[in-house]
Amino acid sequence: MKQYSICPDGEKFKLPEPDDYEKEYERLKHIVQDQRKLGREIVVVMGVGFVGAVMAAVVADTEDEDGNTTKFVIGMQRPSTRSYWKIHMLNRGLPPVQAEDPEVAPMIHRCVNEKKSLTATFTYDALKLADVVVVDVQCDYLKESLGNVRDGRTDMNALEKSLEIIAEHISPETLVLIETTVAPGTTEQVAYPIMRKVFRKRGIEKDPLLAHSFERVMPGKHYVASIRDFWRVCSGINEEAGNRVVKFLEEVINTKEYPMTVLNRPIESETAKIIENSFRATILAFLDEWSLFAERNGVDLIKVLEAIRVRPTHSNIIFPGPGIGGYCLPKDGGLGVWAYRHIHGFEDDIFKITPLAIDINDTRALHVAQLTRDALRNMSRPLAAAEILLLGASYREDVGDTRYSGSELVVRRLTEMGAELRVHDPYVQHWWEIEKQDEYPSSTHSLKRFFRSQDKLSDLRVEQDLKQALSGTDAVIFAVRHKHYLDLNPDSVVEMAGGPLAIIDCFGILDDDKIKRYFELGCEVKGLGRGHVKRIKDQVRAEREEMLLALGAKHGTDSVT
Ligand SMILES: NC(=O)c1ccc[n+]([C@@H]2O[C@H](COP(=O)([O-])OP(=O)(O)OC[C@H]3O[C@@H](n4cnc5c(N)ncnc54)[C@H](O)[C@@H]3O)[C@@H](O)[C@H]2O)c1
Repeated sequence: MKQYSICPDGEKFKLPEPDDYEKEYERLKHIVQDQRKLGREIVVVMGVGFVGAVMAAVVADTEDEDGNTTKFVIGMQRPSTRSYWKIHMLNRGLPPVQAEDPEVAPMIHRCVNEKKSLTATFTYDALKLADVVVVDVQCDYLKESLGNVRDGRTDMNALEKSLEIIAEHISPETLVLIETTVAPGTTEQVAYPIMRKVFRKRGIEKDPLLAHSFERVMPGKHYVASIRDFWRVCSGINEEAGNRVVKFLEEVINTKEYPMTVLNRPIESETAKIIENSFRATILAFLDEWSLFAERNGVDLIKVLEAIRVRPTHSNIIFPGPGIGGYCLPKDGGLGVWAYRHIHGFEDDIFKITPLAIDINDTRALHVAQLTRDALRNMSRPLAAAEILLLGASYREDVGDTRYSGSELVVRRLTEMGAELRVHDPYVQHWWEIEKQDEYPSSTHSLKRFFRSQDKLSDLRVEQDLKQALSGTDAVIFAVRHKHYLDLNPDSVVEMAGGPLAIIDCFGILDDDKIKRYFELGCEVKGLGRGHVKRIKDQVRAEREEMLLALGAKHGTDSVT
């Protein structure tokens, strides 16, 4: 039976068959022959997902001081049903990821169609042609329970498999740069032995030239700049690998303006990444308790944080929305905690804050369901069977990445409480975690398994028409700060909904004027960390009473005269 990979807008691509591999390798060999004549270095980027696709374009766009293109990049992607379509997108010069950054699409188009410095392929034989291999495949952390990161493990299968395949194909002179976020110790204690063993089997005496440099990419408005114009940290497994990785990164990354830090050993580069993300996860988690404090004591946490941020030492304090999703922050600390025992062999338990922070972040979104329930209750509407619209499925503003988004937990909890959910997101065509919940992210690790009555969610589709999505809703949850939601006017929201509804603000999206207007229109408003809404509600009520009194008095006077 023929298998297909379907891209987000529905186009189907037949997966390659055995005969296609040889033809594809011949195509690559011819291109590479020509590219070498142009003096270009051949770089294979393995895994063209959120990181690899844009990294591949950044490398392919590299020019020397005279403006000559110096690299030819082959984006290599395994031909799975989920990802094979990305190869076709790239080869048409189109980005396989959706982003707000206006640089992404023109850069990919330029490299594929004008500079002819980028192509994509499914065959591992591409590795035979590489001078440098950049590894951007995933390394997952699989959690076995909700809100307990310790009950889980690192899943390195894709990475280990990739390293084995790389070692089977590359020349001993090829630099292998691991950019994947890994459990600290992986480059030296997992990758090196795997590759060395394969090299020895191939009769290669030289040690693999391995290096690590992590990505700090932020998909969003500054997607490209967060790869190219940003500070890097790197380290090689030996002197030769160290020199090679520094040379490569100095050529492709803007290290003149963003100087690079070279560390002595890959475990230091790997640990830097894990600490960086654990730090961020921790400062976000720490605000969860203050968010509840604010809600219960009339405090607007948004304004409090703005006041604190003025102080330069505290300028990076950030409001946690409905959970801290994305691929990285929910898992990276787990990779570190896991590595301590399973790579380095320690039996004691030194980690307290890192796992706790992840656990708090992983369950924060559940509180949104409580706020929705309470807002509807204040309007004398039961949550069960209520029509609820969630605005935003992705984990952060202006991107289409839904991995581990807080919104998923909101949808799942409200569904098990009996509500009918709708979702709108201008950046997400298919919410695979929901739509394909029995297969994605894998058949065993959907968050579905932590909630009851989830089957009907497979039929939930992301709406693109906001007016239609809002029509007849009892509640709307502002879950993500997409630019499309920031200027929504309360009068038009209520009009599109067909009457007053419950409004839940998860991300400080509503200013006080809007909150007031919603109350004036007969809505109920609640928000994460927004304890002051009660004051606004009381004010609107008082103003209404005053107005009624004035009307009554006027009426009374009229009847006397
Ligand atoms: N997404 C981010 O914002 C971000 C930021 C910083 C670091 N990172 C790290 O970068 C790494 C990659 O993340 P991502 O978001 O791009 O993941 P992703 O899942 O979007 O991409 C990984 C890609 O690798 C492919 N792949 C897996 N095995 C392969 C193989 N054997 N051969 C070829 N391709 C293979 C997958 O099909 C997929 O397309 C992760 O370690 C992640 O933690 C991600």
